[in-house]
Amino acid sequence: MIALTTTSIAWLIFTVILGGWCVYAFLNIRQARDELGSEIEMAPNRKKYYEDEELEGPRLTRVLGIGVILLVVIVVALPLYWILEPARQAGAQDAKEEQFIEWGSRLFAPTAEGGFNCAGCHGGMSGGGGNATYNLTDPATGEVREVLWNAPAVNTIFYRFDEDEVRFILVYGRPFSPMSPWGVDGGGPMNDQQIDTLLAYMRSIQIDREGCGEGEEDVKTCPSGHLPSDIQGDIDTRAQQLMDENGWTYGEALYNLDLASGAYSCARCHTPGWSWGEPGVTGQGAFGWNLTGGKANSAFPIESDMIDFIKNGSQLGARYGIQGQGSGRMPGFGSMLTDEQIEAIVEYVRSL
Ligand code: HEC
Ligand code: HEC
Repeated sequence: MIALTTTSIAWLIFTVILGGWCVYAFLNIRQARDELGSEIEMAPNRKKYYEDEELEGPRLTRVLGIGVILLVVIVVALPLYWILEPARQAGAQDAKEEQFIEWGSRLFAPTAEGGFNCAGCHGGMSGGGGNATYNLTDPATGEVREVLWNAPAVNTIFYRFDEDEVRFILVYGRPFSPMSPWGVDGGGPMNDQQIDTLLAYMRSIQIDREGCGEGEEDVKTCPSGHLPSDIQGDIDTRAQQLMDENGWTYGEALYNLDLASGAYSCARCHTPGWSWGEPGVTGQGAFGWNLTGGKANSAFPIESDMIDFIKNGSQLGARYGIQGQGSGRMPGFGSMLTDEQIEAIVEYVRSL
């Protein structure tokens, strides 16, 4: 991109200068006349100057030599500069990105290493998913008890959310859970710069995608890529186990998928208590909305609209379904699950 604009500007300047010279040469040739008074042999106020032999001596050679050297500098060094500069700029950008990742990793690190302990809850520096102890207060009795709350993997976070949505999660947290707000706007300790570096670090730990489209070079975030097939295999294997153990359909098993990464299930957001191992009524709504009693179906009378919604997730301000307006908090599963898996889940959700 930078290379392109620099090159275009260079071409523009070159064309303008070339054009200018052509116009000048054209006018000059047409208008050239002998100097005024050149027909007079020697005016009285002129003295005779040096002879040609004297003028064309070593001094002239030296001056011309310097001229040639300067010309070479312009002819060689300027184009060279133009050729090398975009690469230098790109290199500088990469170096900054590297630095951001390094700074972000220090924030992500466990408390013992001076970080903010994202790693402690989210499954180490690779962010593969973990859990966190949390004190729940019973709203009715005021009784407090300790639970272990699932902390989903963040090494697939950009599969599910775009950058602004992840920024929102970091700044405001999930204030009802162990995930506290981290940004100053949410009442947390980190400034915008620190949130930026955390985002850079999390981008760097994303699982490499398979099936990136043409021109999509970044395997961490390429839009048309999907989970590696071995992980998709793990998902299927676990789903099969759940089906055998509980007599569930494929869709129900995927909805409740309990892989350690915690990142693939719907239940953790849509079934109350699921995140700490005490699931209430399936789909009755927690952080995500109530999907039971035909509610989700009346939002999406057409099944394929619901499938599209689950694939893309919600976008802040954008319409979904009949009268829904997204907040950007419902993740998109299009890169996480296969089309068949999503269709199975939707079939199950529509039966709730
Ligand atoms: C005390 C444990 C804890 C710490 C520390 C913590 N998190 Fe979390 N985080 C959680 C839990 C639990 C959730 C899931 C909350 C829920 O159920 O909605 C979560 C959710 C998230 C999510 C959303 C994931 C999703 O798919 O819904 C992101 C992103 C995230 N955390 C990033 C971070 C980062 C970055 C840090 C470090 C600044 C951090 N977390 C620190 C426990 C923690
Ligand atoms: C990180 C939490 C989270 C996860 C995981 C999640 N959802 Fe959601 N979901 C939401 C939120 C929040 C909304 C409300 C819409 C919004 O805020 O944009 C929502 C809305 C929905 C709706 C629309 C409901 C309505 O009546 O408007 C459906 C359907 C839905 N989710 C299905 C699913 C399915 C199926 C899965 C699993 C493949 C899933 N969700 C996983 C948070 C989540």
